[in-house]
Amino acid sequence: MVLARAARIILVGAPGVGKGTQTERLMKRFPLLSSISSGDLLRKNVRERTPLGIQAEAKMKTGELVPDAMILRLIINELTTRGWIQDNTLRPYSVYSSSTGVDDADTTVDSVLIPSQFRAKKYQHSESPSASFVLDGFPRTAAQAVQLDAIVPINLVVSIQTPPEVIIERICNRWVHEPSGRVYNTTFNPPKVEGKDDATGEPLTRRADDDPEVWKARLKRFKETNESLLEHYDKLGVLWTVNGNSSDEISPQLFKEFGRRFGAVGN
Ligand SMILES: *[C@@H]1O[C@H](CO)[C@@H](O)[C@H](O)[C@H]1NC(C)=O
Ligand SMILES: *[C@@H]1O[C@H](CO)[C@@H](O)[C@H](O)[C@H]1NC(C)=O
Ligand SMILES: *[C@@H]1O[C@H](CO)[C@@H](O)[C@H](O)[C@H]1NC(C)=O
Repeated sequence: MVLARAARIILVGAPGVGKGTQTERLMKRFPLLSSISSGDLLRKNVRERTPLGIQAEAKMKTGELVPDAMILRLIINELTTRGWIQDNTLRPYSVYSSSTGVDDADTTVDSVLIPSQFRAKKYQHSESPSASFVLDGFPRTAAQAVQLDAIVPINLVVSIQTPPEVIIERICNRWVHEPSGRVYNTTFNPPKVEGKDDATGEPLTRRADDDPEVWKARLKRFKETNESLLEHYDKLGVLWTVNGNSSDEISPQLFKEFGRRFGAVGN
């Protein structure tokens, strides 16, 4: 399906709610959409030994969290490289300086003469449909969202609501055959012999993310910030909520809303 305008979206939901699944499905359906994952950017920068990657790795080695400023820098670098945002202050002539002929000194001119609401934003973003993305892993808190707003305005935040008891059941029921990637669930698709792969008879295991205790800890962290994060985007008028107990219930609703907001007429 074709997009009529740029979609800059974030999916918010409890761990295990299926954000990754929805992102993949959206990208398949709307091929112009890219996924930008802060975790992937971080790993890539660490692997490629960029200055930011080296700094971030040093933090992680001492057990510290990677500071927001570093994650934002990774996102800014990625969006800039793709040509989706542009730092106005790096351009030789900004909107305001072109008439006066002042260039590098224009920030002071701006701040003195132009009220803040009319001052040029530091970053300019592309509205081209090809500049469409799902941002994954950031922001998790309202404070981070405010920082992101200053770089690029998110124009759809999808709150995916599935009752935690439904998610935990799904997680507890999920077993995988690691070598082949075959997935079983004990309710709908149980292995012929409990705990054994149908094809090889080898033992089934749980994915690390599916450990119920690990999941509970992640849910607790999510619950500390989700309300204020969603409230932030609700105030900006970009929040949309979808309910469902499985990814298959959620996807059609999401596709419809996404198409309604961003699809080209005639799709
Ligand atoms: C169980 O597996 C079936 C078949 O793969 C799938 O359609 C269903 O969504 C799965 N259910 C859960 C709760 O994971
Ligand atoms: C925050 O997450 C919890 C746990 O999934 C959920 O019960 C609650 O409804 C969420 N809050 C909002 C505003 O969506
Ligand atoms: C989702 O699961 C909950 C809890 O099991 C149930 O109360 C609810 O009716 C289900 N919703 C749908 C749409 O199936």
